[in-house]
Amino acid sequence: MRNSSISKFFEKSRKEKLDIVKNFANLSEEELKILQSNNGGISFEKADKMVENAIGTFSLPLGIATNFKINGKDYLIPMVIEEPSVIAAASKGAKIARIKGGFDVSADESYSIGQIQVLDVDVSNGIRKIKESEKKILELANSKSNTLSKMGKGAKEVSCKEIDTPLGKMLIVELLIDVGDAMGANITNTMCETVSPIIEKITGGRVLLRILSNYSTRRIVKAKAIFDKDGVGGDEVVDDILMAYQFADNDVYRAVTHNKGIMNGTIAVANATGQDSRAIEASANAYAARTGKYRSLSKWSKDKDGNLVGSLELPLSVGIVGGISNVHPVAKICTKILDVTSAKELACVMTATGLAQNYSAIRALATEGIQKGHMRLHARNLAAAAGATSDQIDQIVQKMIKEKKISLDRAKKLLEQI
Ligand code: MEV
Repeated sequence: MRNSSISKFFEKSRKEKLDIVKNFANLSEEELKILQSNNGGISFEKADKMVENAIGTFSLPLGIATNFKINGKDYLIPMVIEEPSVIAAASKGAKIARIKGGFDVSADESYSIGQIQVLDVDVSNGIRKIKESEKKILELANSKSNTLSKMGKGAKEVSCKEIDTPLGKMLIVELLIDVGDAMGANITNTMCETVSPIIEKITGGRVLLRILSNYSTRRIVKAKAIFDKDGVGGDEVVDDILMAYQFADNDVYRAVTHNKGIMNGTIAVANATGQDSRAIEASANAYAARTGKYRSLSKWSKDKDGNLVGSLELPLSVGIVGGISNVHPVAKICTKILDVTSAKELACVMTATGLAQNYSAIRALATEGIQKGHMRLHARNLAAAAGATSDQIDQIVQKMIKEKKISLDRAKKLLEQI
């Protein structure tokens, strides 16, 4: 059984951390070499094929969040992010959630939505005719993917809606496509373009846009965890966290920051596994406003024993086949470290990470504030950079924080004095 609860992981050397991850995820020597190489895993030649006008590559820190138990399975979670404290906060949140069994997460099937905009049309007549031809439209759409069809997936439903705009009424035809383990943007766009000519023929209208919707409301993931009252810090801290949550749920200025904290977790895993992070954030923000008011994406309450209960619902469109998740060597290794076997499982991990992150952020904000933790982490990094061993780091950090003098020079001086 793999165990993600690793004591003092943050104090280990790079080699020790890599060895732990290697054993946990059964990485090969080759994969280890890729993680150790300092180019972030992607050559210029590869970058040049991925985007236009390439002039180089750009690396970000890759770290590992520990302690995660999701649906009874232990995960070490790779996170790519530039911001200090985020990986530590996710690990801390997961550690408290673990006391009561970790995260319970479920995900919808991966249905992607493709949109076709039809103009110059009698909308109600068009809707009737499209419904009559649904089977034909689906067959044509599915002719574009043998792979999905063979798996019993692919285009499943055609729906229609009317929108009323200042430039007149429009018919919007939507294809609902089960894209399996792919993010599905390419196949969705291809299917929309393929069926457009017959949609024009059937409705007598003119098709303009044919494009995937990033608002993934048919790919909802729901995560829940109970955070042990004592682990959280007692009744008062639980109650203050509930007050902090109410602030976020009832004020858009706070809600945006609160939801940004959730994205710190979710997007860091998205980055590590090569997902389209812009799609995820755009969708999550629209979902936060689904009641007509922008609110907290998470919900916080307490159970009858006073434990803190958190839940998070996200529309998440991710893939483990296709896209750069299969091209970028480090993204491939990160997906292997996660040991996820489906896009749904990856979406569950990303949502649990968002919830853990949100817990740690609001707990810090409702208690000591976030700056103290940031400064402690900064001081640790400086002490380590000064050459201190793990035993010496604690002493140096404590002294620097007490003196309110946190710098590399001070860390070096204190080290000389030990
Ligand atoms: C910082 O990146 C994230 C937080 O601002 C989130 C929050 O305020 O809940 C700490």
